[in-house]
Amino acid sequence: MLNTILLYCRPGFESECAQEIQARCAEIGLFGYAKTQPQSAYVVFQTQDEDGAAQAMRQLDFDSLIFARQWLAGGELLADLDPTDRLGPILEAARALDTRFSEVQVEAADTNAAKELLVFCKKFTSPLVAGLKRADLLKPKAPLPRLHVFFLTSTSCYVGYARSDNSSPWFMGIPRLRFPKDAPSRSTLKLEEAWHQFIPAADWDELLAGGMKAVDLGAAPGGWTWQLVKRSMFVTAIDNGPMDKGLMDGGQVEHLRVDGFKYKPPKRVDWVVCDMVEQPARIAELITRWVAHRYATRAIFNLKLPMKKRWAELERCRELIEDGLVEAGAKYRLRIKQLYHDREEVTCYLVRLD
Ligand SMILES: C[S@@+](CC[C@H](N)C(=O)[O-])C[C@H]1O[C@@H](n2cnc3c(N)ncnc32)[C@H](O)[C@@H]1O
Repeated sequence: MLNTILLYCRPGFESECAQEIQARCAEIGLFGYAKTQPQSAYVVFQTQDEDGAAQAMRQLDFDSLIFARQWLAGGELLADLDPTDRLGPILEAARALDTRFSEVQVEAADTNAAKELLVFCKKFTSPLVAGLKRADLLKPKAPLPRLHVFFLTSTSCYVGYARSDNSSPWFMGIPRLRFPKDAPSRSTLKLEEAWHQFIPAADWDELLAGGMKAVDLGAAPGGWTWQLVKRSMFVTAIDNGPMDKGLMDGGQVEHLRVDGFKYKPPKRVDWVVCDMVEQPARIAELITRWVAHRYATRAIFNLKLPMKKRWAELERCRELIEDGLVEAGAKYRLRIKQLYHDREEVTCYLVRLD
């Protein structure tokens, strides 16, 4: 039975992740129910259909899910494992997935409570790899799914697979980015992660090219501007607050102390990025206007979601953007993701295609 979809998410966003998978599955005729625990950092969605999880992996696009950092298709929870023989039942569950695997990731939830469990996961990886090889279930480098073992405790886990072309490539769905020591703020990692998330590595030279022009709305102290400058772009930084002095000394940044909602660039720019703390619908309208009027070709922006009905608010923002661009007759692509470095917010990537 492949009726369990397990999704990893940011702690505190279990309910949004559950609402989303339920809605996406319903769109392809799959019904079921979600099990969540607050702050657990994962969601279990049980489909009525015996093969529902495998169908979801085939028919839904992982990149279209906003709140899931990773997802897997598997079976029931393996509970009360014998600490002297965890391997046997786990290998049996892996075999029941009816495929071989290119690699294996042994993981736990991204919570403080699970930090110690990750030490155990690391230790368990070698014996598991050896066991999978003995059982002829592991074929490294073959175009096969990835096996995931997700421990809830050291004696209970889910075993599932993710297709390598339709899941996150990162361990626990988390990209490991190092904080650049001369960047002016920690926020800098949000923009870097957004690029990794939304722009294929092969396109970076073309889409994040030296000499491009960018506008950073709500730029101070300059973490996002720093990333744009690192790609050798020329940046107009809009903010009433002060920008980092070292960043300004480089000569690639013009700082304007004006309102980000009123500023209009004199000429079209390649990028607009926006990290202003404001109501999400206001930001959605603002960036839609920028792209609809072709002030910028590409946009990366944050929607802050501190309110209770975060999922409903996000759906409203998506509609606002889509309606605005359809009305302008624009061809566009919109992607939304809650990044690892995002807190109570999500990051959007909007591109004008025509
Ligand atoms: C979260 S901070 C931006 C951090 C920045 N991305 C970084 O990496 O350093 C939000 C900024 O938006 C600015 N801001 C808020 N409302 C604004 C507005 N209407 N016009 C311009 N800036 C605004 C604030 O002054 C603040 O500096």
